[in-house]
Order: sequence, then structure tokens, then C-alpha cells
Amino acid sequence: MSFNHIVFTVAEPPVAVITMNRPQKLNALNAATMADLDRAFTQVESDPEICGLIITGSGEKAFVAGADIQELADADPVKAQGLSLHGQRIFRKLETMGKPSVAAINGFALGGGLELALACTFRVASANAKLGQPEVKLGIIAGYGGSQRLPQLVGRGAALELLLTGEPIDAQEAFRIGLVNKVVAPEEVLNASLKLLQKVRANGPVAVNLTMQAVDVGLSCGLEEGLRFEATAFGLTAATEDRREGTRAFLEKRSAVFQGR
Ligand code: COA
Repeated sequence: MSFNHIVFTVAEPPVAVITMNRPQKLNALNAATMADLDRAFTQVESDPEICGLIITGSGEKAFVAGADIQELADADPVKAQGLSLHGQRIFRKLETMGKPSVAAINGFALGGGLELALACTFRVASANAKLGQPEVKLGIIAGYGGSQRLPQLVGRGAALELLLTGEPIDAQEAFRIGLVNKVVAPEEVLNASLKLLQKVRANGPVAVNLTMQAVDVGLSCGLEEGLRFEATAFGLTAATEDRREGTRAFLEKRSAVFQGR
């Protein structure tokens, strides 16, 4: 499969690595790049061999410096609404594909770049990363889910500070407020992201998938729905070979070997 502005590779264990590759524009998300991401997410979702996904930026300067401001500047209201809905749909596909994803944030993650990272399961930041939602400085608002996912992740106060001042924060501050899971040296970002996915991969695949769904149902639909889903999913795990293997391995004092069934 060929792409215009991303590079798609597969690393061991079978994990897809998407490298945003429009370095002359700091990997800004234009329509062609969004189309690439859409197809790449479908590919990851539908390939049973691939167990997770890492997204990073080419070069050392930027993860993604936002939606392409050139394209936004020319959009009329109906087109702008369409752009927002289209981007939201693509990022939602990433969020709900049932496979863990890591944003390996190797530099600027601004606007749509931070929103892309927010739709990932985890965020690992390079010590020199800068993160922010500067849309209000352009007279627009976050359009790819930032106004919703950011408060879910860091709470209302910290989210509103980022969204209303538009000022970027550094990686350490992002870690302090819970926006990123880890801060590592620039050369360690990919390795640390891979390690995180390897830890998840060691666990029961059905349980991992159902846990991601349970968190999503609760955050999207509220506590009552979330609890109902959790109980049903908990019941479902009782029918899996993974549960049999996981509990037996514990009692036999050995590592579990899960089949994902
Ligand atoms: N959309 C389109 N082009 C972008 C872009 C974006 N979001 N972010 C950077 N670029 C382009 C610049 O226009 C420039 O292109 P040019 O060389 O053809 O003029 C190139 O990328 C390099 O950026 P530059 O601004 O020269 O780098 P810098 O190191 O001086 O500044 C940033 C880096 C990230 C601080 C600055 O590029 C910036 O503020 N970008 C916009 C961030 C933003 O508002 N994102 C949200 C958009 S909704």
C-alpha cells in the first residue's frame, strides 16, 4: 500500500509504525495526509497479525504541528464543519480500533497534532517536545476532538488553560498534568513506545480489547452504561481460553501463554 505523506512500516512484535512525513511543513495535517491516516488505520484494524500501532514524526523537530493552516484559511463555514467531522471520524477510528496505540511525540505536537496524540491509547514524549492547542490564537477552536478528549485526560482546569491560552507546555509539565505517560530522551522515544506495547502484548488479548472498550463506553456514555458494559465483558472473559490459561498459569507458578481466544 503506498502513501503520500506517511511512511508505514511494521516492527517486531508485529506493530505498525506510522511516520508522519511532511517535514518541510512540520508534518502539518493536510487533506492528503488525513486520507493517508484513514487508510493506514483501516489497514492496522483489519490485519490480524498487527497487535498495536506507534505514530511518530519524521525529523527531530515535529511530531505534527497541527492541521494545515493554509487549507483552513480558505475553508467556508460548511467546508470547515466538514473538515472537522471528517477528522473526528478518522481519529475516532484510531481510538476505537481495539488495538493499543502510542503517540511517540518527538517534537512539536500542536493543534491537530496534539489531538492525534489524544486519540492514541498512550503518549510518550521526548524531553524536547512541546505540546499545545494554539487554535484560539488563529481565531478558531480545536476541531479534531481536543475540546472533548483533553478535559477527559487532564481535567477541566488544566484543559481550559491549554485551550484558552493557546500557550504550549514542555514535556515535563505535560507529564505533571497527566497529558503524557512518560518523558524520555529524544533517542529513546520509539524504543520506549515499543516497550509499552510489548507489556500490553504479554497480556490476554481478549481482556485487553474488552478493557479498552469498557473505558470507552464509560467515558462516552457515562457511569451506569459503563458499569453495565463492564459486568457483561467480565462475564464474557469467563468463556475464554485466555481466562483458563491466565488463572491456571498463576496457580501453577508459570507465565501464561495466551491465544487470544
Ligand atoms: N500548517 C501549515 N504549515 C505549517 C504549520 C501548520 N500547522 N506549522 C508549520 N508550518 C510550516 C510553516 O509555514 C513553514 O513553512 P514555510 O517554510 O513554507 O514558510 C514550515 O512549516 C516551518 O515552520 P516555521 O514556522 O518556519 O518553523 P519555526 O521553527 O519557526 O516554528 C512552530 C515552529 C511550530 C512554532 C510554528 O511553525 C507554528 O506556530 N506552527 C503553527 C502551529 C499551529 O498553530 N498549529 C495549529 C493549527 S490549527
